[in-house]
Amino acid sequence: MFSFSKLSLPIIQAPMAGGINNPRLASEVSNAGGVGSFGFAYSTAQKISEDLAATRALTSGPINANFFVFSPVGLPEQTVQQKALEALKNLPLEGEYSLAIPLAPFYPDLEEQLKPVWEHCPDLLTFHFGVPSPSILARARALRIAVGITATSPKEAMAVEKAGADFVVAQGIEAGGHRGIFNPFEADEKLTSVELTKQLVRGCSIPVVAAGAIMDGADIASALKSGAVAAQLGTAFLCCEESGASPAHKEYLLKHHSKGSVFTTGFSGRPARGIDNEFIRLIENKMVLPFPIQNALTASLKQLARKTNNGEYQSLWAGQDYARTRQLSAKNLMLALKEELLIARG
Ligand SMILES: Cc1cc2nc3c(=O)[nH]c(=O)nc-3n(C[C@H](O)[C@H](O)[C@H](O)COP(=O)(O)O)c2cc1C
Repeated sequence: MFSFSKLSLPIIQAPMAGGINNPRLASEVSNAGGVGSFGFAYSTAQKISEDLAATRALTSGPINANFFVFSPVGLPEQTVQQKALEALKNLPLEGEYSLAIPLAPFYPDLEEQLKPVWEHCPDLLTFHFGVPSPSILARARALRIAVGITATSPKEAMAVEKAGADFVVAQGIEAGGHRGIFNPFEADEKLTSVELTKQLVRGCSIPVVAAGAIMDGADIASALKSGAVAAQLGTAFLCCEESGASPAHKEYLLKHHSKGSVFTTGFSGRPARGIDNEFIRLIENKMVLPFPIQNALTASLKQLARKTNNGEYQSLWAGQDYARTRQLSAKNLMLALKEELLIARG
């Protein structure tokens, strides 16, 4: 069974849903001594099966499959729907995008998505936004798959530990992508990665993985010093040659440093941190449907923006320290992180 002590480099390449992860990226990281991950939140069972098989053919190292867990949602009342549609009409993009209130189901079925996981048995299985059902946890345990769950507060971490997870991912407020908070309508403690890691290490008996603005080996050393068993890096891998991030996403990460990163619910209905752009500013204070309905509602708009290489209308998820993103192959990034970690640890 997977154990953090067996990793030659205490690095998890973060799961990043939306076409960023792929077998090449995950296997390069895994072959370099870390954990290669897949954010399968939006993937079909078939794609999950293909990706896991293709990755296993490229590496015998640890692979992580990641999913979102959340309570089912229904459409809000008509007036709310109309306001959400209004907010997205006539946006100044070149080209046509379609706008229609999505029909249920708004999201792939988790039990269906997990079928290929039980078949291919990746070493790790992680969840974001909440705790999966006891039967999912029991099945993973029976198959000797290590389960990790994101927590953004000590209270969430207690629920993760109580559920029987093998480790907890401490996601600091600096982290790029969706905030893993269980209930986005509750007050957010907004703890930094280091603060949260230290609190969880003190309060939990399961291993803690630190996440959020960890961009180089010195940052990894700080996370380990705080008591983490490993660091989970997302943004740092976005500009790797192997990353499936769009060309505009990569360009903004490397060149548009003055924009900074902000939280928005506009793209998906849940708070996520990304590079500030026109869409985020236009949707601010407008009606947004709950996750994942808003995510489906904005799909055509995001596709058009990607097709036309328009970074102002794509979700450019990125952590607070994205200005330190490097453009390297995954192998060379892992080598650089290893060297920097060695230096930082003296
Ligand atoms: C583009 C992007 C997509 C992400 N998608 C997921 C996801 O699907 N599942 C998940 O658990 N975390 C996801 N995250 C969050 C990461 O797991 C991690 O918390 C974050 O990347 C850490 O902060 P950093 O980006 O500053 O390294 C995503 C992050 C980014 C940048």
